[in-house]
Amino acid sequence: MKQVAVSNTAELFFSLFNIFTILAILVGTFVLGLMAYLVLRFRETASSPEPEDAPKLGQLPAPRGKLRTVVISVVLSTIILGVLVVGTFSAIDQINTPPQVCAQTPSPCLTVQVEAGRFFWNVTYPGGREDTNLLVVPKGTTVILKVTSLDVFHSFGIEDFRIKTDAIPGRINTIWFVANEAGDYLIRCFELCGTGHAAMIGTLQVVEPGSFQSCGAGC
Ligand code: CUA
Repeated sequence: MKQVAVSNTAELFFSLFNIFTILAILVGTFVLGLMAYLVLRFRETASSPEPEDAPKLGQLPAPRGKLRTVVISVVLSTIILGVLVVGTFSAIDQINTPPQVCAQTPSPCLTVQVEAGRFFWNVTYPGGREDTNLLVVPKGTTVILKVTSLDVFHSFGIEDFRIKTDAIPGRINTIWFVANEAGDYLIRCFELCGTGHAAMIGTLQVVEPGSFQSCGAGC
C-alpha cells in the first residue's frame, strides 16, 4: 500500500529521493557487477602472458582504450546527471512558486507572514491576528509562507514537510505547502543565529478545515 506523505512537499521530496536511490542502485549494481566480471574473467593464471601494453619503466604508457567506450560513458553520465539536476531544480522551483490559482481574488490559499527574530517565530494571519512559535493551518489548503527576519539571518524549516527557506532581514522568501494530515509538526531554525538557536523552535498545527473555520487561527 502506498503511504500518503504528510504534505505535498514531502511527496515531492520522496519522489525525488526515489529517483536518486533507483539511479544509484542501477549504476552501483552495473559498476560493481562489471568489476566483478572483469576481475574474474581476466584474472591472472600461471600461463598468462605479459600484456603487450604493460607499462615499462622510463617509457610513456602506450595509448589504450577505445574512443567509443569513452563517448558512451560520458554520454550516459551526462544523461544521468542531467535527470538529477533537472529533477532537483524543478522540485526547488515548485516549492518556491505558489500555484497560479492563489493569485485569484479572493484567493483560495492562506497566506501567512512569518518573521524570525532572536529567538522566536512571529506569525501574522490575514486580518492581522498574530501568534508566536505557533502556526495553525487547515488541512488540504494551500498555505503560502512569506518569510523574513527582524534581525539576523535565520532559516525557517518544517522537517516533516521537507521544506526550508532562509529568513533574511529586508527580504521576503516564499515557500508553500498543502498539509495532508492533521497533527503537530516541528518548526525549527536551520541557521546558526546565536545562543538561542537550538531553542528556536515552533509548532505547526494542522487542523481539520472545519475547526479552522470555527476558531480561526486560535485553535
Ligand atoms: Cu534562528 Cu537559528
